[in-house]
Amino acid sequence: MVNLLEPLMKKKVIVTGGTGYIGSHTAVELIACGIEVVIIDNLYNSDITVLDGIRAITGIRPRFYEYDLCDMAKLEEVFANEGKIDAIIHFAAYKAVGESVKKPLEYYRNNLGSLINLLAIMEKHGVASLVFSSSCTVYGQPEILPVTESSPVKEAASPYGYTKQAGETIIRDTMAARPEQKAISLRYFNPIGAHPTAHIGELPRGVPENLVPFITQTAIGLREELKVFGNDYDTPDGSCIRDYLHVVDLARAHVIALKRLLEGRNNSNFEIFNLGTGTGVSVLEAIASFERVTGIKLNYQIAARRPGDIEKIWADPSLANKELDWKTEITLDESMETAWRWEKKIRNQS
Ligand code: UD1
Repeated sequence: MVNLLEPLMKKKVIVTGGTGYIGSHTAVELIACGIEVVIIDNLYNSDITVLDGIRAITGIRPRFYEYDLCDMAKLEEVFANEGKIDAIIHFAAYKAVGESVKKPLEYYRNNLGSLINLLAIMEKHGVASLVFSSSCTVYGQPEILPVTESSPVKEAASPYGYTKQAGETIIRDTMAARPEQKAISLRYFNPIGAHPTAHIGELPRGVPENLVPFITQTAIGLREELKVFGNDYDTPDGSCIRDYLHVVDLARAHVIALKRLLEGRNNSNFEIFNLGTGTGVSVLEAIASFERVTGIKLNYQIAARRPGDIEKIWADPSLANKELDWKTEITLDESMETAWRWEKKIRNQS
């Protein structure tokens, strides 16, 4: 019998930001396919104990370098130690929209400097394949919904958003100059939930900015109430609409994208895919889902709009469905259930 995973076995892949939220879930899926995962993360926004979580699920603790990707000498050290690397999946980046407005240079230096270093070292050490973490933020507020990969890229609303747009431009131009290399940029919509084992999940530092961690922290009593940012938008219930996908579905897409590159099944040497469910969900519907699966009545109230918020956006994921043979499998309710399981676990209430 043909082992469909065979091309991935024995490959060695660097996962930058591999102790972060999406990076750790992707590391688990990669290891499950027999890939040797090497993590580089400076722990700016993650915790070393995540490696224990990965080991609890997979039985393997990936080799780990607590290095900053902006430090080229450290990157060289990794390559000197590890020898041949087959591909890089690049998650490591600052990601807080509000913070980026206050610290633009830090965002540009970190998010773009690390990417430029990786592209330089890929060339030097003959690494042919790159998967890049991008975001639906590149579309701004789209005029036509759902958004396809050819929907216009709007002027970025924050330095964070600009680093994703500029990151894609840097990769596109670099791939145009290097026909021997190939890259896939994955534009995530809103990743939520946690691994079903509750060994890994989202670990926001301080007060969460994102909706689902704020919901679970409110439910567990860490926050007094959730503020719903606006109920006067032009949407059926007045709250903003997003496309929430489970982080394990998202992680699986990275493995598929990697496999596509390693097997040379890419159509061009720079491809872009939207990753979402294809369904828009309002903030109030997300809260209702959480309440339904947990039986908890969430303390929330309607508040003013959050500056910079997009009114509504959801994906047309048909290109990823067709080309990657990928679609989301985990429902919103299941996603909320795993997010809650994780919150209880980290607060010792499970
Ligand atoms: C934002 C970015 C996205 C980025 C992500 C990373 C934009 C348009 N989107 O996503 O690119 O990858 O952050 O963190 O810049 N909400 C509340 N109350 C809360 C928190 C959120 O009502 O306490 C609402 C928001 O108004 C929004 C929805 O929940 O409608 C989702 O918000 P959030 O989880 O912060 O994600 P985005 O803003 O969509």
